[in-house]
Amino acid sequence: MRALVVMSLAALLMLPVGAAAQGSLNVYCSVQAEWCQGIATEFQRQTGIKVAISQKGSGETLAQVTAEAANPRGDVWFGGTGDPHLQAAEQNLTLPYKSPNLDKLHDWARRQAEQSGYKTVGIYAGALGFGYNPELLQKRKLAPPACWKDLPKAEYKDEIQIANPNSSGTAYVAIATIVQLFGEDEAFRYLKQLHKNVNQYPRSGTGPIKAVARGETSISISFLHDGVTEAVAGFPVKTQAPCEGTGYEIGSLSIIKGARSLDNAKKFVDWALTAPAQKIGADNKQFQVPSNLEAKLPPQAPKFAEIKLINYDFAKYGSKAERKRLLERWEKEVNSQPK
Ligand code: F6P
Repeated sequence: MRALVVMSLAALLMLPVGAAAQGSLNVYCSVQAEWCQGIATEFQRQTGIKVAISQKGSGETLAQVTAEAANPRGDVWFGGTGDPHLQAAEQNLTLPYKSPNLDKLHDWARRQAEQSGYKTVGIYAGALGFGYNPELLQKRKLAPPACWKDLPKAEYKDEIQIANPNSSGTAYVAIATIVQLFGEDEAFRYLKQLHKNVNQYPRSGTGPIKAVARGETSISISFLHDGVTEAVAGFPVKTQAPCEGTGYEIGSLSIIKGARSLDNAKKFVDWALTAPAQKIGADNKQFQVPSNLEAKLPPQAPKFAEIKLINYDFAKYGSKAERKRLLERWEKEVNSQPK
């Protein structure tokens, strides 16, 4: 676990007078480290509340919040795919809270709140797709994939990475998407075939696209916005929205039940739903669609209107029973199989 207390001397000196006594906030953070750091620094600067960040993937954070249920250590859970946040809500691991800023959000973000009995809320959205390294593909005389159905082809043997869906929300969205596109049995036949082409299932959802950027693998299954982050940083990375259609995430924010700093947690949620707070993502080269209606979409961000999106069933795939069943089936029928 990577825990860092964001309270440098410089930050202290920037605090408003008398702000140092405002208490603290433990944030479990499931977006990329730069964004976690950005929200911690800015919220702390504005409020004087001392913020500690612990960064982990969506599935891993759900496992941690579940394990700590009797003695919670986190106050809020910021970001990560929506399915595990919905599961946490169902399991009563998170608290209902109706922020006065809910009416400033897109419908999809408010729907996430309504669906969970206000135990979580959407802070961003992102569409799933492929990332690839055009230089590496050219060297291997391979065409870039255009469709889901391309990925299991024999020519891509050992060329593909997707994260492990137990720890990574991204990879779980991929499995749920393939199930929704092709039906469950066909989806598992597909995943078994794909397994032969996967060289590694890293822990973190952004692991595969970073491997594409470094030239360690040709292709990844990733959120399109994470491919844009690597391309903007100068790496040879291109992205592709799958031709059959694709799933998406509603990145979410929840208050953890038993939060020791409940008032500060509510303050944080109110703040995180504002347009200026959501701009911190784009300021740190993160290209998800912000949930606040007034937050601007950076020009490089993938455009939802140009992507064929499926009608992702968040209630079903964010339920404990379905998520557990699909992950167990994947472990047994796919991950444990030889290549
Ligand atoms: O921060 C990048 C991101 O892709 C988010 O959009 C997403 O919610 C999160 O990472 C998922 O991470 P993981 O797959 O590791 O749970």
